[in-house]
Amino acid sequence: MLYRDLILKLLLLLPPETAQNLAETALRYKAPWVLLGKYNNMDTPELNTKICEISLSSPIGLAAGFDKDFRMLDSLSELDFGYITAGTVILNPQQGHPKPRLIRDVTRNSLLNSMGFPSKGLEFAIESIKSMSSSRLSPIFGSISGTDINSIQISCAGLSPFISGIEINISSPNTSGLKTFHDPVKLSEMIKTIRDTTDKPLIIKLPPHSNETNEIDVALKLADSCISSGADGITVSNSRPVKDSRLAVGEGGLSGALLIQSTLRMVSSFRSYFGSGIIINACGGIFTGDDVFNALLAGANTAQLYTALVYRGPFAIRHIKKELLTRMRIEGIKKISEIKFN
Ligand SMILES: Cc1cc2nc3c(=O)[nH]c(=O)nc-3n(C[C@H](O)[C@H](O)[C@H](O)COP(=O)(O)O)c2cc1C
Repeated sequence: MLYRDLILKLLLLLPPETAQNLAETALRYKAPWVLLGKYNNMDTPELNTKICEISLSSPIGLAAGFDKDFRMLDSLSELDFGYITAGTVILNPQQGHPKPRLIRDVTRNSLLNSMGFPSKGLEFAIESIKSMSSSRLSPIFGSISGTDINSIQISCAGLSPFISGIEINISSPNTSGLKTFHDPVKLSEMIKTIRDTTDKPLIIKLPPHSNETNEIDVALKLADSCISSGADGITVSNSRPVKDSRLAVGEGGLSGALLIQSTLRMVSSFRSYFGSGIIINACGGIFTGDDVFNALLAGANTAQLYTALVYRGPFAIRHIKKELLTRMRIEGIKKISEIKFN
């Protein structure tokens, strides 16, 4: 309540990136969040789960892009995420696209961005994660990207010793060079190279696809290439590409509540196709405990969110966990593993 009624209203008075920078600055100071975590976080064994042998306190993860340079992991862990996807990290520092590159649509609980991977680079990310001191760090997945196999391989090798798993982002709508990896042959070559580099769990974040038969076929082929080349699973999916003249570069990716139905549809079609053998993280439009429940019912192992953190604030995960527990109670379900794909 305090967040939506006061803090969010104040943040909305600022330009979106200024508000984001302010939130990031606050999250770089660990102490207040540790205090908040002590009173805020709930021990919910009913929500415990596992992916790739990594134990998670809940299936609710932070999606990539919020902590691009691994600088807020101590504080973000206190917000009670089951896991955190940090990054996306690029090998060499880069500025990203010109501003404006972030737009809010408050009435639709959505965001539109054309950030273009602003990144302080691999070395900075490694130093940041090494400096984290919390004994309560959530499992960290490192989101890594690049437009050539060599740079992705170097980043994976560099980060691997410090993280629980890797998510390779081939799906940002803001970097056209990533389309190289939308060719299943090139994608397979990249994944095999990474598989030879690290034995950490490996997830590929796929681009969204529509409900047209030809797009579904292309998406399944791409996912097939991921799994047959050695990836453990997929994240489904990234923000939806849209054109918008308010962005300096004229196009970007749409995130938030509007995406939930297509996320559920995509998760369900990937799960039907692959059966139970792979990890699927639902990503796009997860806002409530019901959304998490529906994502798991559609076949996801976990559900990641970004925009909900912006609009629901630092207590988002506490609220979502409570909503999820309520829904489980209504459905007569005692623990996460009982939610079965239908
Ligand atoms: C400002 C912003 C920056 C993002 N940066 C990244 C990124 O660096 N890497 C990535 O894989 N996804 C990035 N995303 C996409 C999110 O991880 C997520 O896939 C998308 O927002 C859909 O989830 P949501 O509806 O819960 O926000 C970004 C999203 C936003 C809004």
